Amino acid sequence: MNILVVGGGGREHAVIKSLRKNPSVGTIWCLPGNGGIARDAECVPIKATDLTGITDFAKAHPVDFAVVTPDDPLCLGLVDELEALHIPCFGPRKNAAIIEGSKVFSKELMKKYGIPTADSRVFSDADAALSYLKTCGYPVVVKADGLALGKGAVIADNFEEAKSAVGKMMVDKIFGESGSRVLVEEFLTGPEVSVLSFTDGNVVVPMVSSMDHKRALDGDLGLNTGGMGTIAPNPFYTPEIAKICMQTIFLPTIEAMRKEGRTFRGCLYFGLMLTPQGPKVIEYNCRFGDPETQVVLPLLKSDLFTVMQACRNGTLKEDMVSFSKGAACCVVLASEGYPGQYRTGYEITLPEEAPWEEIYIAGAKISNGKLVTAGGRVLGAAATGETLKEAVRRAYSLAERIGFENAYKRSDIGARALRALGEE
Ligand code: AMP
Ligand code: GLY
Repeated sequence: MNILVVGGGGREHAVIKSLRKNPSVGTIWCLPGNGGIARDAECVPIKATDLTGITDFAKAHPVDFAVVTPDDPLCLGLVDELEALHIPCFGPRKNAAIIEGSKVFSKELMKKYGIPTADSRVFSDADAALSYLKTCGYPVVVKADGLALGKGAVIADNFEEAKSAVGKMMVDKIFGESGSRVLVEEFLTGPEVSVLSFTDGNVVVPMVSSMDHKRALDGDLGLNTGGMGTIAPNPFYTPEIAKICMQTIFLPTIEAMRKEGRTFRGCLYFGLMLTPQGPKVIEYNCRFGDPETQVVLPLLKSDLFTVMQACRNGTLKEDMVSFSKGAACCVVLASEGYPGQYRTGYEITLPEEAPWEEIYIAGAKISNGKLVTAGGRVLGAAATGETLKEAVRRAYSLAERIGFENAYKRSDIGARALRALGEE
């Protein structure tokens, strides 16, 4: 079986390493991939958003199955186009990917079907948003409707901050059309949990829970990033809470999408907040999370390709998916300055004995035969262990041994989870 994987980050590297475990998998093409993924797949320099380039490639090669993981091509309808070429895909069609592509859509879906989430109002006019923001209580969360590279949510502590966010999104259009509509949302509190799930549109099977560390600096301070590290499982997500989430969030969402004629197949990501009133949805993603995937897939005991095929074929069963009892931690090495300005082009030195299966390359390319940095998030060092403490220790020990000039990492990935477990 020859597989086409679309994307080129740490998440895609994790998906490819996992797919490789299946002996029936032959060639894996990764579009565009990156300099590190090139060790595990044939990388082809076609951008994930170049739908014509991707479909032309698919027509010219013997592709048996496609896996589309980034949000943009999913929301642009790449799965629909590949399916029109009779290529089976893992990933939702455009009409289902909207669950991430439009926060107004997902909010209305949750309201209509009684799925717990933060209260919110939608504005398509900046003046109307500002008059509301003058009278509401603070903090509030201002969110752009559309995709915004994970930077579309601003927690505003006062009117001035909210006004500035509305100005940037609706007037300056820093996210383009994504900011044509904004949501002003109630500020929720509580631990955050990421739950990725496999679904074939009817059956939904949650994966092991995880915790992202989105802020740039230790102590969850600094700017929001694409994710500076992850751990799994998330200790705040108890079996009781998992049960509540299944009944009040996961199943109702899958059913709601089906009822709306938008059957969702693929990986549905639930971004949850465990509030004092119970678990609520902060956001849906129509795909695997990054860097959650780098801790979730190493714990997957089942064969990823078989599960992906079952999601596509409508034959998913709960007992097809099982996870190891242990824990995992991923520490992201970024370029100093990220998510702001940063320099790239520095050689990455991997220690001789470094276990390649524990390294997930995100932003690197091959230059003059050397692997050099080429992005904000450069790579993830991820390890598993019998306990979270061991996984964290092993991930940091690996991260310490990987070097490049200007490298930056947080030093407290997993610390909050270990405190919650009393294992500091
Ligand atoms: P999002 O872009 O929706 O993923 O939001 C980014 C981050 O903003 C989330 O991971 C939360 O930490 C925070 N956030 C989003 N919505 C809310 C909310 N209603 N209340 C509190 N924090 C939020
Ligand atoms: N880690 C969060 C995301 O992938 O959006």
